Amino acid sequence: TRKLIILTDPGQDQAAAILMILGRTDAFEVLGLVATAGNIHLDHTLDNCLKLMELAGRPDIPVFAGCPQPLMRPLVIADHVHGPTGLDGPVLPKPAIRAQEKHGVDFIIGTVRALPGEVTICALSPLTNLAVALRKAPDIAEKIADIVAMLGAYFEVGNITPSAEFNCYVDPEAADIVLKAGIKTTLLPLDVTHKMLSTPARLKAMRALGNRCGIATAEMLEFSEAFDLRKYGWEGAPLHGPCVPAFMLAPEIFAGRQINVSVELAGRVTLGMTVADWWQITDLPRNAFWVRDGDPALYYDLLLQSLGNLP
Ligand code: BDR
Repeated sequence: TRKLIILTDPGQDQAAAILMILGRTDAFEVLGLVATAGNIHLDHTLDNCLKLMELAGRPDIPVFAGCPQPLMRPLVIADHVHGPTGLDGPVLPKPAIRAQEKHGVDFIIGTVRALPGEVTICALSPLTNLAVALRKAPDIAEKIADIVAMLGAYFEVGNITPSAEFNCYVDPEAADIVLKAGIKTTLLPLDVTHKMLSTPARLKAMRALGNRCGIATAEMLEFSEAFDLRKYGWEGAPLHGPCVPAFMLAPEIFAGRQINVSVELAGRVTLGMTVADWWQITDLPRNAFWVRDGDPALYYDLLLQSLGNLP
């Protein structure tokens, strides 16, 4: 099994990703979740992580609070997509379990040091806490097995601005630090997530699983994806977060290239853009595997199988 630290600001699509991971105990061991400020403020993302652990029947998985704001910029949230709690849709009970006392950044550092070469950072959110961990304890860079992150956009341009994807835009300095850290990194950008559309038939199949996790996930996605359906006018909305576990479970259903990816930190209209050197025009280090394509039918099969294993 692959040992994971999950960085997350759920967020309905990230809830689907987390549940997908929890449904595959044969493939993943979740060491802990670090709640991040992003889609909504930290108090809500922390609460949402706890609610999801209870929904999945996994109160044993520790949840840590990370930093309440990005490194250098005021927090930009996406409550227009995710609702005032960040996880609107089904009414999930107020969690009885508590977050850990330790700070999320120290959890990352301590865990990576204790398990050198064994921990995958599964990043669904802005990268603030990983960047702070790398600044506080630079030795962890060579001890992290790899990073698999939903972040960035190039061929599909932006979703929070015309040029930037949300997770990168919220904390571009953090993304820059992480991408320059010399860690094996895979990025699942909008280029691929925009191909993974939650058609009505797919959401119906999710609901038809009949278990509480399947039904709640369908309800969550119906809430958050309504915004994207209006925006894009496609027959389904992009489902971002689960691309991360799907890539770890079945890399063969995706296609990409090892290239240089640089984050724009100064652009007047391109702040937070991930500039992907797809055609290898520069000699800059090929610091990330950039996923550009994937098979949506196989992706949803994996997601549904996994959700079906949960309560
Ligand atoms: C990303 O932004 C967030 O709003 C989603 O949860 C996802 O992590 C997509 O750009």
